[in-house]
Amino acid sequence: MKRFLFILILLSFPFMIEAQDGMVSVRQVCGPYLQNVTTNSFTAIWTTDMDAVSWVEIAPDDGTNWNNCERKKFYDERGLGRRPITKVHHVTVDGLQPDTKYRYRIMMEGVTAQYNRAGVIFTPGYGLDVKSHPTWCKTLAEDYDKLHFGMVNDMHESDSLFRMLMSDALEQKYDFVVFNGDMTSAIDHEEDIAKHYMSSASDLFGYCTPIMITRGNHEFRGNDALKWHDYHSNPGGMPYFTHKYGKFFFIFLDSGEDKYDGDIRNLGVIMTDKYTDKEAEWLKEVLESKDFKESEVRIVFSHIQPDPKSWFGNRVVAEKFVPMLNEAGIDLMLCGHIHQYKYYEPGTTNAKFPVVCNKNRELMITDVDNSKIKLTFFNENHVLQRKLEFKVGQYR
Ligand SMILES: [Fe+2]
Repeated sequence: MKRFLFILILLSFPFMIEAQDGMVSVRQVCGPYLQNVTTNSFTAIWTTDMDAVSWVEIAPDDGTNWNNCERKKFYDERGLGRRPITKVHHVTVDGLQPDTKYRYRIMMEGVTAQYNRAGVIFTPGYGLDVKSHPTWCKTLAEDYDKLHFGMVNDMHESDSLFRMLMSDALEQKYDFVVFNGDMTSAIDHEEDIAKHYMSSASDLFGYCTPIMITRGNHEFRGNDALKWHDYHSNPGGMPYFTHKYGKFFFIFLDSGEDKYDGDIRNLGVIMTDKYTDKEAEWLKEVLESKDFKESEVRIVFSHIQPDPKSWFGNRVVAEKFVPMLNEAGIDLMLCGHIHQYKYYEPGTTNAKFPVVCNKNRELMITDVDNSKIKLTFFNENHVLQRKLEFKVGQYR
């Protein structure tokens, strides 16, 4: 009998090995990247190659080995009491100290099957290897003397150009990076978001540098256009939002499509009129807020630049947002959209503040303190193209 069992085990051994080799496992595809970083929280976003549940573990930046103790866990709370089983993961880590660096590790368990009420079958857990790929986030300070940030726009799926423009992003030590719209030409498939720019963004800097993203007119296009929202986490949960870095206040507008809703090229699926009306109501509240009124430097991002006499999208920005911004007092508006550099002096459109469009093939770096805003523009070979400087408060 013993001999029979021994032979049976020997015969089945190769199949046991094969079963382990063929074991289904989950891996992250894109990410993590950081959004909505505040003085006491941050959100990590990533995608997986199969449906999974997820969490993030955090550790202080104290030099201890990750495995020194059990690390605190934070879960994807979008399920409002049930853990989401999804390929796109958002985990917000909160209760943190301001101006403090934390290490974090993204974790996930793949889901191979769900049997309604009967069971959920998980794969073995998997976490990003923080030894070979350390990931960290520094929470915002309560106040800043100066800020340094990069902005690109209108990449239109040119991942290689994007990588060239952002290749030194880590060395730059940006406080944050802005993608000012049209990073894709259309979102035909959800996976395009990762493929076209988000995977590169995460690899190069997004795992430790906050990313702010405005929606361009091209992000309204494609069968999976609405999936774009799943890849972002903004304060307030909308594509338009604000961020405050001490006395520096930033407004990120959604400038909508460039053509009127009923234009035949909008294919009968665009309805931005009511949406931008609501955005204007939100903007009014922002401009009346204590945070805005007490801010010393005010910069607005909008993919489409204001111009009452130009395309519909330009007119929407000019008519719905600019009059309020004029009254409230803005230092600068930063745009993209036209694929070329253009500086609109105050008064050349209906804006009383300067408006700058960044070229589609250039990186714009901003250095701002409480007296001046300096813009420097670089091509993909990191050769300086031009400089601009504005005084804070000059046009208010
Ligand atoms: Fe555009």
